[in-house]
Amino acid sequence: MGPLEFKNPYRPGAGHMPPHLAGREREYKEFDRLLEQDEILENMVLTGLRGVGKTVLLETFKPRAMQRGWLWATADLSESASISETALAQRILADLALITSSITVEEQQPGQPAGFVAPSDPRRVPLSHEVLASVYDSTPGLISDKIKATLEFAWHQLRQQDKHRVIFAYDEAQNLSDHAEKEQFPLSVLLDVFQSIQKKGIPFMLVLAGLPTLFPKLVDARTYAERMFRVVTLIKLTDDESRDAILKPIEVANCPIKFHPDSVETICHESAGYPYFIQFICREVFDVFIQQHAKDEVGMVPVDAIQRKLDADFFAGRWAKITDRQRELLWVIANLAHPDEEFTIQELVEEARQRLTKTFSPSHANQMLASLAERGMIYKNRLGKYSFAVPLLGRFILRTYGPTTEPSISV
Ligand SMILES: Nc1ncnc2c1ncn2[C@@H]1O[C@H](COP(=O)(O)OP(=O)(O)OP(=O)(O)O)[C@@H](O)[C@H]1O
Ligand SMILES: [Mg+2]
Repeated sequence: MGPLEFKNPYRPGAGHMPPHLAGREREYKEFDRLLEQDEILENMVLTGLRGVGKTVLLETFKPRAMQRGWLWATADLSESASISETALAQRILADLALITSSITVEEQQPGQPAGFVAPSDPRRVPLSHEVLASVYDSTPGLISDKIKATLEFAWHQLRQQDKHRVIFAYDEAQNLSDHAEKEQFPLSVLLDVFQSIQKKGIPFMLVLAGLPTLFPKLVDARTYAERMFRVVTLIKLTDDESRDAILKPIEVANCPIKFHPDSVETICHESAGYPYFIQFICREVFDVFIQQHAKDEVGMVPVDAIQRKLDADFFAGRWAKITDRQRELLWVIANLAHPDEEFTIQELVEEARQRLTKTFSPSHANQMLASLAERGMIYKNRLGKYSFAVPLLGRFILRTYGPTTEPSISV
């Protein structure tokens, strides 16, 4: 194989499986422990900043769970699944049907309760969406009662085939919300349903993946969520893990490219161990090295050019969508001693006083942080402290932005 035929292996992009998934042993151990539960006492929240690797890790949980006899029902929770309780119910039924339709159940007679078998007519039909929907529709009461009855019915059927343990894995679960003004509580319904069926000993487990706003949201909806979930927070990779993520994909036979240890260190530093940035930088470096290799040149990492491309691809879009005043506020945060760590409104206001001619009052800062949180730039933890929701945002701001220095005119 000629050097130019070796395809660039790196995969920057939301949900794209990396050529080598580095690290995450701690998370696998935690997940394996939850898989051992006969009675579900703990479910999982898998959380972390944008691009840290939640979606791809969740995908690798699937074969792990299936090897241990679990079935796997999954979906992305788009905003639409979260609009109403009915939409949530439809989501759960659809996901469940995908895994149940491969088993058959005795056909129900019209007008007879779910699961009733006419002895004279033992015809078997797939446990399809239609069958589940008929159980759902024929159950009286609240939407949560209907979902519970359907899940219970499915469990009874699955159990007879010795396939009774099911994981419901939902990505982008931070989209789940209750909407009191519309009297729709899909998030609370989801928690109530799983809490109730788990209490009955039904081994259906929830694995919810999402941004750091997810867990506080769950606990706000139902305080018992605190005890119901084991929170696993994905953080950046260590230097050793970063090196694996960088090097393993090109250690395979016939890769014409070798990264010099200095290049590897540069990539570790520039990415700060954040998986998306590792994939992004490596993809660029690989392309450049392939060309330099063809010309017999020594490979050098073009840090500035890659940085600019990353700024344009990853940060600029988010930055463009916010107001000048919001940018000033974020710039102040970027100037804190530890911009990548948590900060309080007090610290922010004090920093602003030193750096801006027009400062922020605590209540104004509070309001602006709330709207920046809605935009996914900032998040607030349960103790009321704030952080950037986008990794390395502080570095980007310091690199590319300075507030106007003219004194602003008060009106
Ligand atoms: N452990 C890892 N080792 C190497 N690369 C990884 C690892 N985890 C994730 N990546 C890469 O990082 C990028 C982001 O991964 P992913 O989409 O799973 O993140 P995410 O946390 O789900 O992001 P978002 O918050 O936007 O949903 C992808 O390009 C993926 O290939
Ligand atoms: Mg994701």
